[in-house]
Amino acid sequence: MTDVAKRGGAPVPAGWTYAPAPESTDIVRLQERYGLYVGGEWLETKEHFTTVAPRDESPLAEVAQASAKDVKNAVAVARDASAAWAALPGSERAKYLFRIARILAERSREFAVLESLNGGKPIKESRDVDLPLAAAHFFYYAGWADKLEYAFPNRTPRPLGVAGQIIPWNFPLLMLAWKIAPALAAGNTVVLKPAETTPLTALLFCDVVRQAELPPGVVNIVTGDGRTGAALVDADVDKIAFTGSTEVGKAIQRRLAGTGKKLTLELGGKAANIVFDDCALDQAVEGIVNGIYFNQGHVCCAGSRLFVQESIYEPVVDKLKKRMATLRVGDPLDKNTDVGAINSRMQLEKIEELVAAGKDEGAEIYQPPCVLPERGYWFAPTVFTNVAQSYRIAQEEIFGPVLSVLPFRTPEEAVEKANNTPYGLSAGVWTEKGSRILWMAERLRAGVVWANTFNRFDPTSPFGGYKESGFGREGGLHGMEPYVELT
Ligand code: NAI
Ligand code: MG
Repeated sequence: MTDVAKRGGAPVPAGWTYAPAPESTDIVRLQERYGLYVGGEWLETKEHFTTVAPRDESPLAEVAQASAKDVKNAVAVARDASAAWAALPGSERAKYLFRIARILAERSREFAVLESLNGGKPIKESRDVDLPLAAAHFFYYAGWADKLEYAFPNRTPRPLGVAGQIIPWNFPLLMLAWKIAPALAAGNTVVLKPAETTPLTALLFCDVVRQAELPPGVVNIVTGDGRTGAALVDADVDKIAFTGSTEVGKAIQRRLAGTGKKLTLELGGKAANIVFDDCALDQAVEGIVNGIYFNQGHVCCAGSRLFVQESIYEPVVDKLKKRMATLRVGDPLDKNTDVGAINSRMQLEKIEELVAAGKDEGAEIYQPPCVLPERGYWFAPTVFTNVAQSYRIAQEEIFGPVLSVLPFRTPEEAVEKANNTPYGLSAGVWTEKGSRILWMAERLRAGVVWANTFNRFDPTSPFGGYKESGFGREGGLHGMEPYVELT
């Protein structure tokens, strides 16, 4: 505020705050208890667990814990449905996908509210990012369904059969869309397992499937924890698509070795966001903030390591801290909220543990003053300076709103430091010089390199990792490939 006054802008009253602007949750109708969605029917299971709202830990619904037997049954149902689905002309499959895209767009407010309620992300993100992108993925892959022979010239693409899909909790509906849209477009049927902390939008999606009159058995949703996921890996599927932790990804890869089942893995990351001294500074600061505080940092491609050229290190850190102080942390359902709730108690504990390790190892911590709600899972936006490359906070995926800042002098040094990680999912480069962007992009070992922007997604653009960030691509034409057999 003093800055504004100094520059002679309009005077702002001291202590000016935003009035609460909560989004109503009336539009969401939850059931008390959910079964498994298999063959177009809701099936009961023996065990259930409670899914909560991370903003206040209030219970939302009882969700089924699918057993290995339940999973086997779902896969058999998907198998029965697969021949007829594969035999449909691509143009017919496309109609269903277009319908799903349209229904998601029509019901986007309902989905956005539920996504924020169950996952903790700010409503403005679920409303403006998750939902439009999820619908866009169905829309985009609908377009490929009848053009597969042009997608793979001189080769004959055939569906694989049944795809088992396991997704995480950071973008629940969007990850569902990334998985289901290309699989269906290519003529496969699916059994998808949402993450245990965020099953509700996947369960609401079953109603979209019903509305779109998709043939029974083409999309099946089984809920449960890691045991359900492991059962899906072992079931009679032709392919596993997994997004989640590197640890579980590796276990799945070991499990599938020699089985002939196909596999794609989208795992963790520790992305470098690299800022050169000739960049547009204020834009870079916005990109840094978006890179790490978007979705509370629960983003596999989050720009969690910030490399700043030494000559501008201080102004960048100053500007960043000032900008952080304006972030509004709080109720995910409030339209003004920038940083919402941490997804689960488990994730909160992981963040707390790594942040404590950062302090212990000697890094300097800054958190802007902010009042965190008493109930629920919360963590203030955090930045660490005075970080050495060897510190755990510079090496391990924190998956929270925590940034480590490190200096560099030359482009060569930036590349070397940026690549000094077991991961390789994404990177960002901020510079005015086009030739430097290309020079950097060529050398950075990352699946996606953003230039003068960060966390940009588009269904037409492939996304995926190097090294321990996984293999296989999702999005774009590349995203069709893992779902077809080419002869
Ligand atoms: P996770 O990898 O355990 O969970 C992801 C999905 O895999 C969930 O649906 C889970 O039920 C399922 N799963 C768990 N164990 C499985 C098994 N043995 N076989 C098959 N499926 C299994 O991730 P978690 O425990 O939720 O988070 C731990 C850390 O992983 C996070 O702190 C973060 O660093 C990282 N992570 C990365 C993600 C990414 O997008 N790259 C997403 C989620 C977590
Ligand atoms: Mg786990």
